[in-house]
Amino acid sequence: MSARISSRGTSLLRSNVFAPRISTVNRWRYSSTIPTKSPKTLSDFSMEGKVCLVTGAARGLGNEFCRAFVQSGCTTIAIVDLKESEAKEAAKELTELACVNSDLKKEDIKIIGIECDVSSELSVQRAYAETINTFGRVDSVVASAGIVENYAAFDYPFDRIKRLYDINVHGAFFTAREAARNMIPQGGGSIVLVASMSANIINIPQPQTPYNASKAAVRHMASSLAVEWAKKHVRVNVLSPGYMATKLTRTILNHDPELKKTWESLTPMGRIGEPEDLAGAVVFLSSDASRFMTGSEIRVDGGYCII
Ligand SMILES: NC(=O)c1ccc[n+]([C@@H]2O[C@H](COP(=O)([O-])OP(=O)(O)OC[C@H]3O[C@@H](n4cnc5c(N)ncnc54)[C@H](O)[C@@H]3O)[C@@H](O)[C@H]2O)c1
Repeated sequence: MSARISSRGTSLLRSNVFAPRISTVNRWRYSSTIPTKSPKTLSDFSMEGKVCLVTGAARGLGNEFCRAFVQSGCTTIAIVDLKESEAKEAAKELTELACVNSDLKKEDIKIIGIECDVSSELSVQRAYAETINTFGRVDSVVASAGIVENYAAFDYPFDRIKRLYDINVHGAFFTAREAARNMIPQGGGSIVLVASMSANIINIPQPQTPYNASKAAVRHMASSLAVEWAKKHVRVNVLSPGYMATKLTRTILNHDPELKKTWESLTPMGRIGEPEDLAGAVVFLSSDASRFMTGSEIRVDGGYCII
């Protein structure tokens, strides 16, 4: 069985972090296939040999996406985030985790941490320049950097609204544009913009109009860019999570513990998602398995949007 890398970090390594969350017995019970001694997977899902760049990857969902890529065979990743120290620390931690339960040695893995504020186009360009200088190309990019705030519309200070759009909307655009600038001459690539179920529905009870609008913008931006670059072999798709357990949501829930129960009750599957729940979707969208998909959205939200 391949190594399972948890977003909870190395400290959990010692406590059997690689154990599957569903027991082997139950896994076969839920599966429609009969287990064989050497399970195989479709090779199109492999991220082996691909160079990946993920923004907002020092923690949270972005960090989980990097772990999913490593679990799928990727050994070259640029972890891009606001603080250089956190990006480099995350790169070091993921390099160590990648060696656990695998034949890989540290020297086989090239994961770098790069400081970047995605709201600055110059900063994004510098991050790409460093990535290209190090790896020579970039095949799969995930724009995960983003923020959320909860203010009623009448109370939301304009400078904060502007900052949110600068990060969530313009940051996604700068990240995608720079990705395509590098991917087109090399023959193509995959870009995944992280939107949210909030691009499709209105969250209740917390007010977050600018956030919802920013994520709807990201979703439509992906469709528009997908059309612009389709013939140039650059695919642009959207991953829209529901409520996920990360620092972003913890900050909100710390102020209002009852809110978690409300969110769970509004989610048909009755729980908040774990970052690992997005691993399959991000690998699918970033790998050749989705080669005929562009301008699409995958929602991973426990069914939230369907009721
Ligand atoms: N957690 C959820 O429930 C949820 C649900 C739907 C969508 N999302 C989206 O997923 C993405 C990731 O969210 P998360 O839960 O991992 O959040 P998080 O707060 O845990 O992590 C966000 C990361 O982005 C980085 N970041 C913030 N501003 C940045 C900037 N200007 N430049 C570069 N990096 C920056 C932060 O330093 C952090 O490492 C966001 O776009 C968010 O809107 C999250």
